[in-house]
Amino acid sequence: MDKNIVIANWKMNPLTAKDAKALFYAVSDGARKFKNIETIICPPFPFVSLFSGTRSVKLGAQDLFWEIQGAYTGEISGKMLKDLGCRYVIIGHSERRQYAGESDELINAKLKTALKCKLTPILCTGERAGEEINEVLTRQLNECLKEITKSQLSEIIIVYEPVWAISTSADGKACLPDNALSAKLLIKKILAGLYGRFLAEKAAIIYGGSVDLSNAASYIKESQMQGLLVGGASLEAEEFVKIVEAVNSLL
Ligand code: PGA
Repeated sequence: MDKNIVIANWKMNPLTAKDAKALFYAVSDGARKFKNIETIICPPFPFVSLFSGTRSVKLGAQDLFWEIQGAYTGEISGKMLKDLGCRYVIIGHSERRQYAGESDELINAKLKTALKCKLTPILCTGERAGEEINEVLTRQLNECLKEITKSQLSEIIIVYEPVWAISTSADGKACLPDNALSAKLLIKKILAGLYGRFLAEKAAIIYGGSVDLSNAASYIKESQMQGLLVGGASLEAEEFVKIVEAVNSLL
């Protein structure tokens, strides 16, 4: 992935198909001119099929199940997502770790399934408040990328998203660009240990956590991130499109 990437994670919003369509089409219209940015929208599952085959923005999902087919009541297959036009899938978001008890081992299984289904995984990593960043990122990357080959690494987007920086978390304060840069360098160092320096340098690493229009550009410029994962600010079409524009203006 050479392009800069801006991802909207709608989480469990909005509540109606009508509102989802309005938001999606406002963003896809607004983002149309920014052809060199990979703009990705990850709506909740029920809305994914509303947007299959859409043009200026790419479609992603917020999760998938680790098996591809069978007796798994309530689960969603990566093949179904692929069939509906998804190209991307978020895996291991901290809210899934927190509310659905997802472990690194399970996230690793989901990552492998996503790759089998030809979906690009967006792998979330990051420490909670009070946790030691080096220890957490080392563990998460080692465990979540277990048995992922060198060539598969280039198909994965890695997000540094400190849990304490997510806008709806108890702390909810944005990460300083300098700290995000240190985290990025740490991720590259860990990846270099696993895959060698060359592949680590090429890996796509993006930032998430309280991204808005006021700070978006700083994570690209100062933190040298390849892109952004945006939660709350992606629910306002105008602000989200301006974020895409801000990233585009740095090209
Ligand atoms: P936020 O969420 O932008 O609202 O902090 C980001 C995320 O959790 O992906």
